[in-house]
Amino acid sequence: MAPPLSRRLLPPTLRALRRCYSASPASKAVIYDEHGAPDQVLRVADVPPVELGERDVCVRMLAAPINPSDINRVEGVYPVRPPLPAAVGGYEGVGQVHALGPAVTALLAPGDWVIPSPPSFGTWQTYIVNHQSVWHKVRTDVPMEYAATVTVNPLTALRMLQDFVKLNPGDAIVQNGATSIVGQCVVQLAKVHGIHTINIIRDRPGSEEAKDKLKQLGADEVFTESQLDIRNVKSLLGALPEPALGFNCVGGNAASLVLKFLRQGGTMVTYGGMSKKPVTVPTSYFIFKDISLQGFWLQKWMNSDKADDCRTTIDYLLGLVHEGKLKYEMEVSPLTDFSLALEKAMGKHGSHPKQVIRF
Ligand SMILES: NC(=O)c1ccc[n+]([C@@H]2O[C@H](COP(=O)([O-])OP(=O)(O)OC[C@H]3O[C@@H](n4cnc5c(N)ncnc54)[C@H](OP(=O)(O)O)[C@@H]3O)[C@@H](O)[C@H]2O)c1
Repeated sequence: MAPPLSRRLLPPTLRALRRCYSASPASKAVIYDEHGAPDQVLRVADVPPVELGERDVCVRMLAAPINPSDINRVEGVYPVRPPLPAAVGGYEGVGQVHALGPAVTALLAPGDWVIPSPPSFGTWQTYIVNHQSVWHKVRTDVPMEYAATVTVNPLTALRMLQDFVKLNPGDAIVQNGATSIVGQCVVQLAKVHGIHTINIIRDRPGSEEAKDKLKQLGADEVFTESQLDIRNVKSLLGALPEPALGFNCVGGNAASLVLKFLRQGGTMVTYGGMSKKPVTVPTSYFIFKDISLQGFWLQKWMNSDKADDCRTTIDYLLGLVHEGKLKYEMEVSPLTDFSLALEKAMGKHGSHPKQVIRF
């Protein structure tokens, strides 16, 4: 795993002296000193300049998203978290190379766009100093909010489509939480490979519009949970094949609906728990349907010696963005509006697109 985006503070007497050639500018960061409700414990703080080591790169952050796992880290319920106090929020994002240490050998120049890859803690700040090995140069001909969000969710969607069940063109998958970024990416990445998607979304204001948007992205079928409150959901499949693979983003009833669609011997991969409700499985599904339940955690996948694969796949995904084959809804706000963006990301104002902070 990449080292955390740690800061080495200069002694105050040296700070002014070295700032001009070997330290970052002063930074603003969204930090927390204790775990708790993110809208209670997060605050924007001034952070002094950070010394650049020989092989360090100073990056001026351009944008970073507020992902559900970022919220969970601040809450203290995510298994891997930055140490307290003065933990900086965020885990992925994009920035622009600002300055290079004297012994940097990576092919980087001021102005290049880079992302921490694999991602690292602490992307919610205006300047980050870290070792050259942390940074992966990415193309600049895509909107910055895509470069900022390409790792956690699109990569998860691609890995889940490729790593569990061998799918062939014409096959189908089923997923809940289809309006999430992962869900929107599953729809489009499946389509690129000729795979059909059956999508489940929750009942909420705007669900008809959400259905239309998913269909425009290439979804074959989109159902609200209440539409599936029938005995035989497979009667709704029409000409689509029964799916061998399902993705569970939500848990609770939405997970049961994914299971209902799966064919004999099918696999459901759980990667999120948005409803905070457990997955319950009828005994008969194990005995008579031979269903398999598995889990996916991107952070574990990236830890298992996959740093190079991670970067190659990110380049591929940004290529799809550039070609217009991968898009998803985002709302970009300045750091000054962080509090409102956070509340939207926490679901305090109903459903909103992915919140991305511009620094
Ligand atoms: N395991 C991994 O490695 C991994 C990697 C990436 C993401 N994830 C997980 O994947 C999930 C989606 O992440 P994302 O960033 O793609 O999501 P997102 O774009 O932030 O969207 C949130 C999604 O959750 C739904 N949702 C919110 N509250 C809900 C509730 N109470 N009940 C049911 N659905 C609810 C939203 O539905 P509406 O549109 O109806 O509001 C929306 O589809 C999260 O749980 C995240 O932690 C896991």
